[in-house]
Amino acid sequence: MHAPAFRTRVTELFGIRHPILAGGLMWLSDAAYVAAVVRAGGMAFLTPRSFPEPGAFARELERCHDLAGGMPFGVNLNLSRVPARNRLLEEWLDLALRAGVRHFETVGHAPGDLIQRIHQEGGIAIHKCPLLRHALNAEKAGADAVCIVGPEAGGHPGNAALGCMVVAPMARRALRVPLVIGGGIGTGESILAALASGADGVVMGSRLLAAEEVWAHPAYKQRVVAAGQDSTAVAFGGAHPLGTWRVLENDAAREVLRRQAAGAREHADFAEVIAGTEARDHAYRRGEVERGMLSCGPAAAFVEEVEPMERIIDGLVQGAVAAQRRLAALAVPQAVPA
Ligand SMILES: Cc1cc2nc3c(=O)[nH]c(=O)nc-3n(C[C@H](O)[C@H](O)[C@H](O)COP(=O)(O)O)c2cc1C
Repeated sequence: MHAPAFRTRVTELFGIRHPILAGGLMWLSDAAYVAAVVRAGGMAFLTPRSFPEPGAFARELERCHDLAGGMPFGVNLNLSRVPARNRLLEEWLDLALRAGVRHFETVGHAPGDLIQRIHQEGGIAIHKCPLLRHALNAEKAGADAVCIVGPEAGGHPGNAALGCMVVAPMARRALRVPLVIGGGIGTGESILAALASGADGVVMGSRLLAAEEVWAHPAYKQRVVAAGQDSTAVAFGGAHPLGTWRVLENDAAREVLRRQAAGAREHADFAEVIAGTEARDHAYRRGEVERGMLSCGPAAAFVEEVEPMERIIDGLVQGAVAAQRRLAALAVPQAVPA
């Protein structure tokens, strides 16, 4: 396990060894994944929506506690604009708090009440969003840290327009709370660049998808390993009502883009192709990788093999340290004033 190489406000806030967060992954960030990240020195977040009912989520919390050897881990809470989709939010929060979880990644619409509740129980919340404007609102609403993701991010980067490396120095100047950036980060060099740009840490997803501890089918992981710079596609971009979704370019994604180009706009026009169960049951469970919208960004191009999470994280930290040394060697010695 790599020794701590960077101490930032994010490592201090979360009590972690490395400034690396693994964002919640629908269907994939289960106890094995989250515990693997935590044991490797980062912080990761279970996604309650991935479980069929609160009881299953509660059992996963217990499993995560055991697999993490009692080390703190996090939970992702996603606030939908559609009130019916937030029906179980309170219950998920209660279950997580009862299980001793104090680290939350909030996402989505108007997180103020949720953040307040988390604070009442002694927890901390990092709010993830696509725009600096949202991050400033989250800071005002009490978020302990914010995370801004660019359009390179796998999954739903929202209406992010600027790459995270552009946003970072702007955000650094505008925000007081610790800043995490993400979207396209898959190497140690990028982590160092993020820190140099004013971020206190990074959030990652796509680079970690082929970790040994991810439960998905080997054929899916091989697809991630094979991904290159052009292997992802963006569906529902612009002002499409279904919201931007960056995925691996497979048959399902191509079919969605074809229907979109033909003018389809309603959820019902895409329902059988984009259903989450397509990804879960076909691609992740059975390795039928042409089915399902498989959230993924171009950082997957940095995945070269299936390997244990600890080796991935250690490699990232080593890469960041090496980049730092390379930069230090570029510095022109300055004359000492007489
Ligand atoms: C397979 C996958 C599933 C994701 N599911 C979620 C999710 O359920 N909730 C969430 O907040 N973010 C989700 N994300 C976004 C990640 O948490 C993270 O913000 C993003 O992956 C960072 O960008 P990167 O993919 O370029 O590393 C998902 C990303 C991927 C790749």
